[in-house]
Amino acid sequence: MILSGKSRVAGVMGWPVGHSRSPRLHGFWLQQYGIDGAYVPLPVPPDRIEPAIRALPALGLAGCNVTVPHKEAAFRLVDLLDPAAKRIGAVNTIVVRPDGSLEGRNTDAFGFRENLRDGAPGWDPAAGPAVVVGAGGAARAVAVALLDSGVPELRLVNRTRARAEELAADLGPGVPVRVIPWEWRASALADAGLLVNTTTQGMAGQPALDLPLAGLPPAAVVTDIVYTPLLTPLLKQAKERGNPVVDGLGMLLHQARPGFQAWFGLAPKVTPELRRFVLEGL
Ligand code: ATR
Repeated sequence: MILSGKSRVAGVMGWPVGHSRSPRLHGFWLQQYGIDGAYVPLPVPPDRIEPAIRALPALGLAGCNVTVPHKEAAFRLVDLLDPAAKRIGAVNTIVVRPDGSLEGRNTDAFGFRENLRDGAPGWDPAAGPAVVVGAGGAARAVAVALLDSGVPELRLVNRTRARAEELAADLGPGVPVRVIPWEWRASALADAGLLVNTTTQGMAGQPALDLPLAGLPPAAVVTDIVYTPLLTPLLKQAKERGNPVVDGLGMLLHQARPGFQAWFGLAPKVTPELRRFVLEGL
C-alpha cells in the first residue's frame, strides 16, 4: 500500500521493540483489506514514555499498542481506562479519541479467551478448576479472562508465592481463587479442567516448565502463552498423553483485533493465512 496524506497511522511502543510481531501482523491486515494506513514500530526508552504517550494526539496518530516494559506506565498516563485495563492494571492498546484524549484498553484477556475458543471449542469452563502457572503481567490477564469465563476455581501456582498472593488479592474478595505452593504444583492438577502456562519457561532457549502432568485429567485442556516454539515442551508432553492442547500464537493474533478495528475502522479476521504469515516471520 502506498501511503497518502490521509493515511491513518498507529504503531507499537516498546523497548526494545525490534522483536515485536505486531507490525507484521497489522501490516498483513492493512494490505489484505486495502486500507490507507500504516502500523510502525515506535522504539521508546523507559525515560521517554511519558512524552511519547502525550505526543500521540499531537502527532495525529490513531493510537498504538504498548508492550514490554511500558504497559504499567501507559496505565498511569492515559485519560480513561476500559474495565479490563482497570482490572489487569496494565494497558496494551491506546486509542486517541476525537477530542484528543487517550483511552487505555487491555485486550490480552480478550485475546486469551478468543484463542481458547478457536483452539478448544469443546472446553467447558465449568468442567473443573483452572490452574494458572505464573504470576506476572500475562498471568493477570489470563486470570481475569478465566474468572469472566466462569471457572469454578482458579488455582494460582507461582515459584515466588508472594507474587501469587498479591495477584489473588488484586483479583478481589469473593472470587474463587486459591494459591497453591510451588512444591505442591503437581497435585494442583488433580480434577483440573484447564492448565495454562504464563511463565517464560519452555520458550526457545529457556528450560522447560518443571511440571509433571501425571495427575492431570485426560480431558483437561493445556495451553501455553509462549509461541516460540509453537509446540512447547509442556504442550508436547500434554499432546503425547492425549490432552487437547492450544498453542499461544492465537492469543497474539486475537489481542490485536480490537486495536486494529478502533484505529482503522474495520474488524479484522484471524485466518489460517494470517497465522502462516506471522509464523513465517518468527
Ligand atoms: P510477564 O509479565 O510477561 O508475565 P514476568 O512478570 O517476568 O513476565 O513473569 C514471569 C513469570 O515466569 C513469573 O511468574 C516467574 O515466577 P517468579 O514470580 O517466581 O519470578 C515465572 N518464572 C520465570 N522463571 C521461572 C523459573 N525458572 N521457574 C518457574 N517460574 C519462573
